[in-house]
Amino acid sequence: MPQIFPATWLVYCRPGFERDALAELLHHAQRHGVCCEGERGEGWASVTRLDNEPINELHRLVHFDLLIFARQTLIALPLLNVGREDRLTSLVAQVIAAGWSFEDIWHETPDTNEGKALGRLIKALSRPLESLLKKRGALRRKAGGRRLHLFWVSGASLQVCLSFPGNRSDLPNGIRRLRVPSRAPSRSTLKLEEAWHEFIPRSQWEERLEGHLTAADLGAAPGGWTWQLVQKGMYVYAIDNGPMAADLMASGQVEHLKEDGFTWEPPYRLDWLVCDIVDKPSRVIAMMERWLAGRWCREAVFNLKLPMKKRWEEVTKCLSDLDNILQAAGVKYTLRCRHLYHDREEVTVHIRIQ
Ligand SMILES: C[S@@+](CC[C@H](N)C(=O)[O-])C[C@H]1O[C@@H](n2cnc3c(N)ncnc32)[C@H](O)[C@@H]1O
Repeated sequence: MPQIFPATWLVYCRPGFERDALAELLHHAQRHGVCCEGERGEGWASVTRLDNEPINELHRLVHFDLLIFARQTLIALPLLNVGREDRLTSLVAQVIAAGWSFEDIWHETPDTNEGKALGRLIKALSRPLESLLKKRGALRRKAGGRRLHLFWVSGASLQVCLSFPGNRSDLPNGIRRLRVPSRAPSRSTLKLEEAWHEFIPRSQWEERLEGHLTAADLGAAPGGWTWQLVQKGMYVYAIDNGPMAADLMASGQVEHLKEDGFTWEPPYRLDWLVCDIVDKPSRVIAMMERWLAGRWCREAVFNLKLPMKKRWEEVTKCLSDLDNILQAAGVKYTLRCRHLYHDREEVTVHIRIQ
């Protein structure tokens, strides 16, 4: 096989959000002046350079942290169709033709029932493939931390991909599975827990999340997010007309105020603001602008609910409006926004004032 190049940038996403993941990739390709054609299937989206040149530079320039709807970011070779009798020969040939070397092989599938059904096939293939790629010198002990991802779109076709350390998700399928804590008042609790894993390096948890910090939780009832804050030792103003879980109130760390989260103001500057109110994204953004321009908190995590079709467009408009206001107010900040695994029709935003 002649040498081949990875001309494709492939991301995984939640099924149903492929349109948004693709719009995001095309936006970045265009911003960097790279002509691409887009494609999407269930649980993934990709762009391929029209000149067939390697996609590596674009993939590197648009770091994983910048992406909203992607669960994983990879460079990929052309889709490979494999015969059902012998899937390995052509797979190994493509990897060798690309000249890739790597330290690890991950078999992955779309986050669908069809994807999950491929588990047995993958299990049967993984050992023999490993030994073939070891023999050919592609799978090595040291290869700059690169990882081979075999994205099985079906039992007969896959996309052979590569990822690089520091610019990828280190979770299989890009999914962070968390267990609902038995004492948490609601499943929503996992959204805030995942946000912390995603946005705050573990080495900074003690300084930024633990100890006697103060927080407000807007739209707090029944208390899944407040519960997370209380677990970290924070004192929490829980703002909601609805009832809070009695156990949580018994902690003595929560003050429940039946007020409107859009107009309530904190009595002093807080460490954290979190907000899970279901309302128009533009309304939530306007409220965040007030909090951040007024420096009423140091960090914030909030959701933007996205029941509309054009979610990518809505999120980017909201974030750009927010940026305009904060720039005008002279507020320096860092922002990350991601469609988390435990999010549904919403994305989670984290902001830290500098
Ligand atoms: C999705 S639930 C929050 C779930 C909560 N994060 C948890 O983990 O248990 C949304 C909450 O927002 C509250 N809410 C809606 N509009 C509000 C407003 N203007 N001010 C305060 N709370 C509001 C609702 O009463 C509801 O309890």
